[in-house]
Amino acid sequence: MGVRESHRVKELTFSPIRSLMGEAAKMAAQGFDVVNLGIGEPDFDTPSYIVEALSEAAKRGSTHHYTDNRGIVELRRAISERYERELGLSYTTDEVICTVGATEGVYLGMSSFLNPGDEVLIPDPAWLNYLQMSRFNGCKAVFYGLKEEEGYQPDPEEIEKKIGDKTRMLVLVNPSNPTGGVLSRETLEALVRLCVKHDLLIVSDETYEKIRYSGEPHATPAQIPGGRERTIIVNGFSKAYAMTGWRLGYVVAPKDLIDPMVRLHMYTVTHPSSIVQWAGLAALKGPQEPVAEMVQTFKERRDFMVEALNTMKGLSCVKPEGAFYLFPNIKKTNLSSHEFCRRLLREAYVGLVPGTVFGEGGEGYVRISYAASLDNLKKAAERMKAALETWS
Ligand SMILES: Cc1ncc(COP(=O)(O)O)c(C=O)c1O
Repeated sequence: MGVRESHRVKELTFSPIRSLMGEAAKMAAQGFDVVNLGIGEPDFDTPSYIVEALSEAAKRGSTHHYTDNRGIVELRRAISERYERELGLSYTTDEVICTVGATEGVYLGMSSFLNPGDEVLIPDPAWLNYLQMSRFNGCKAVFYGLKEEEGYQPDPEEIEKKIGDKTRMLVLVNPSNPTGGVLSRETLEALVRLCVKHDLLIVSDETYEKIRYSGEPHATPAQIPGGRERTIIVNGFSKAYAMTGWRLGYVVAPKDLIDPMVRLHMYTVTHPSSIVQWAGLAALKGPQEPVAEMVQTFKERRDFMVEALNTMKGLSCVKPEGAFYLFPNIKKTNLSSHEFCRRLLREAYVGLVPGTVFGEGGEGYVRISYAASLDNLKKAAERMKAALETWS
């Protein structure tokens, strides 16, 4: 049979991160002692009270019915209360959809509002899904830079120059994967003013909201005048509660933006697993100390690794305020980011991700995930330092 994939799916490419990590895994399987710092998920166990809540939900039989498409009202209420309490934003339970991870949230936020030919403003470098989703929807991705010398803050003036008749949406990622950068309140205000002026929707991916180190409160465009009515907040449980495998996230937006997303969501995924939703409720209602402890541990690892990188020949690294990634500058090694990672894997058995995986703006950088034990970070740092000394 001649398989002819749809035009939309033809646009989607396999993630290069997976194939690169596959190479590291293959080496590990061959017996090499590989330290893989390419993985984008917490290395902690899900807190036990969340696991228990899932098991209790299963035992009491919360399994044999579909839930509301938006998700169980108890979880939506807990999410809505959290926004009120923590960010001063009020959303009704009908303005929340529980999704299969933030990944589905990004899919809903983009696919419910974009038409072929639209232009979408996407950060460069950024997590791959925004580009893939804009291609899937037949749109043109227009990249705006996140530059090291600007503290990885977008430049609203640069963005405004890229806005044209077809521009429909601005994607924000805060904190950022891969830079770890956190958007300042001033940047957000300027960006919201732009979006109001040019009538743009905002998809604000706040998946790493809880993993921040400065003590400054998290800021979202929905808090800024003119922002709420045009912002789709995408968030989830994966990173904050070490729940990547559970596949639970949510979107929060005003009712007229939520309704189209509910229609797409009901015909594609129906709803996330019922018992996982009950576990998500326990995550929000239960003790938050495990989250705080995890963030403190990430902070110690970040500090160690930034200091270590800054002693290595040809490398320099700024200290980011969020997520669990570092994005060191490798330009002085005169290697492309791909070549750098390939050599490091083969010669030092350390797995990193080339910055170019996240966009052209990532050339000259590599992504290091410090969601790894301090022992492994120390081992990786020693090996990297030794290898770099031998590279001319
Ligand atoms: C910025 C960003 N958004 C969303 C996700 C996906 O999160 P989830 O596991 O909730 O689908 C990731 C995962 O790496 C991410 O880096």
